[in-house]
Amino acid sequence: MRVLSVKNYEELSKAAARYMGAQLTLKPDSVIGLATGSTPVGMYKELIRMNQSGEIDFSEVISVNLDEYKGLAGDHPQSYRYFMNDNLFKHVNIFADNTYLPDGQIEDDQQACQDYDDVIDCVGPIDMQLLGIGHNGHIGFNEPADAFTTGTQCITLDERTRQANARFFAGDMSQVPAKAYTMGIGSIMKAKKILLVVTGADKAEILDKALNGPVTPSVPASILQLHPDVMVIADEAALGI
Ligand code: GLP
Repeated sequence: MRVLSVKNYEELSKAAARYMGAQLTLKPDSVIGLATGSTPVGMYKELIRMNQSGEIDFSEVISVNLDEYKGLAGDHPQSYRYFMNDNLFKHVNIFADNTYLPDGQIEDDQQACQDYDDVIDCVGPIDMQLLGIGHNGHIGFNEPADAFTTGTQCITLDERTRQANARFFAGDMSQVPAKAYTMGIGSIMKAKKILLVVTGADKAEILDKALNGPVTPSVPASILQLHPDVMVIADEAALGI
């Protein structure tokens, strides 16, 4: 595991975009695993700039996202499909048909999870998986649990996760879905490379546990200690510097 310490959020965004950009240069038909949340937004802006200035090309890229709220349609402004379209896809030359997220509108959990596992099997292996980290150590929406998940799961979201994400729903907790579909930890660990981006002092404690604590499903991100190729890009606040 390599840890790159950067000064602040702006530097983190640029460094992470350069790292993913290098991947696309080396392998233009990369399969990239993408993430939502506030942390990657600056990185996505930088990737858009790099694409629009001709530095990187998305025309052969396939993307598979980590997760989606159960019950939200892709045109719902708080759905992760909407987020990805808005923050990245519609601004770069990726083909819409090459962008995958779990389908939040499938009612039947088993069906939704099977469908997404089929997608991952079909387009994989993932060359580079981008991750953020939740305050409780979740990756994707894999919440702390008694065991690590394997394939795609339907997860009941923790109250703290719903509270943290309520900011996207005008602060109204009642609007935050109770469940989400998420790529499983087994699938995340199969990615050839992992890029974890972390910003802010409020993530310092959980980042330290994830990087230096015991590997335990009660801190899902701690499993990354066992992956052979993880790059952590974190700002000084998140590293407690
Ligand atoms: C959500 C997403 C995660 C993300 C996390 C942290 O729960 N499902 O993939 O890592 O939020 O988000 P933020 O970057 O906004 O702190």
